[in-house]
Amino acid sequence: MFKIAVIPGDGIGKEVMEATINVLDALNLDFEYTYGDAGDECLEKTGTALPKETLDLIKNSDACLFGAAGETAADVIVKIRQEMKMFANLRPVKSYPNTNSLFKDVDFMIVRENTEGMYIADEEKETEEGAIARRIITRKAEERIIRYAFEYAKANNRKKVTAVHKANVLKKTDGLFKEIFYEVAEEYPDIESEDFYVDATAMYLITNPQSFEVIVTTNLFGDILSDEGAGLVGSLGLIPSANIGEEGALFEPVHGSAPDIAGEKKANPTAMLLSAVMMLRHLNLTDEADKLDAAILKVLDEGKYLTGDLGGSSNTFEMAEAIKNNL
Ligand code: NAI
Ligand code: MG
Repeated sequence: MFKIAVIPGDGIGKEVMEATINVLDALNLDFEYTYGDAGDECLEKTGTALPKETLDLIKNSDACLFGAAGETAADVIVKIRQEMKMFANLRPVKSYPNTNSLFKDVDFMIVRENTEGMYIADEEKETEEGAIARRIITRKAEERIIRYAFEYAKANNRKKVTAVHKANVLKKTDGLFKEIFYEVAEEYPDIESEDFYVDATAMYLITNPQSFEVIVTTNLFGDILSDEGAGLVGSLGLIPSANIGEEGALFEPVHGSAPDIAGEKKANPTAMLLSAVMMLRHLNLTDEADKLDAAILKVLDEGKYLTGDLGGSSNTFEMAEAIKNNL
């Protein structure tokens, strides 16, 4: 039996979570779900966006499924990642049929450092002149994420790892990141290593996305490039993610609470469902993961039950139901 923490959060987070749990139910998993509160609505109700009980729930679970937070995202999801030392954020970018993907054969993994870089709330402060943020790069955290990227490549038969940085301008911080990258790369002679500046990478992702296999990068750059990846393959509704650490693992779509479509059952449930696939793999439930993955692909491939972002006319629950029927 696995204990799964379920945190739907705000907006479409609630809708895609309901649809996903419904599909998971059909897999007859030995899961015990416990629901937790977090996000904007939780802040309004309880005075805090991330109650201690919710954090404890995640700590005491084998894995967590997370929908999306709204304006409180920094106090919720960024805080959970830091508190739980979930240092690796995996964001697969893959093209599927019938999805407005700019290219047919895109398939790469973004491995984003999740605990430092530009996203440290305590390091952003108001000053007399305006405001200032500090960017933190430690040898320990960067070495860990870079090694994680190479290990991921090795385990998943990927032939190349690309480091993305801005070491020409950020000489000390990204200079160190690049230096560590090539140190670690030496331990993996069978895997090709290369590095690009982040601005050039933003272009290559559009001009030559098929050349990427595994990208490893710091927190802010990984955040931005993963939404670019979403645009590349057609919708934010298609990109799942995993946050992996020593003390826990959390699985969530890359998208947010999407207030522009929330409550209208328009959200594509695929990113949340693919996040569940990543969770099943993490729990070594490989058969179940393969089954769900195949059912999602079948529905995208058939193109009959697609949400509006993919040009279809099905709602969140109709698309999820079609996936359930294909299990
Ligand atoms: P967003 O990801 O919520 O939405 C961006 C655009 O993509 C919108 O047009 C939305 O309708 C569309 N979209 C997103 N997910 C979709 C889906 N599953 N199906 C179809 N269309 C989809 O990002 P935005 O608008 O920048 O932020 C909205 C709120 O979400 C903000 O309050 C932000 O703080 C929060 N947010 C939370 C995150 C999290 O909890 N991890 C991540 C990103 C944003
Ligand atoms: Mg983001």
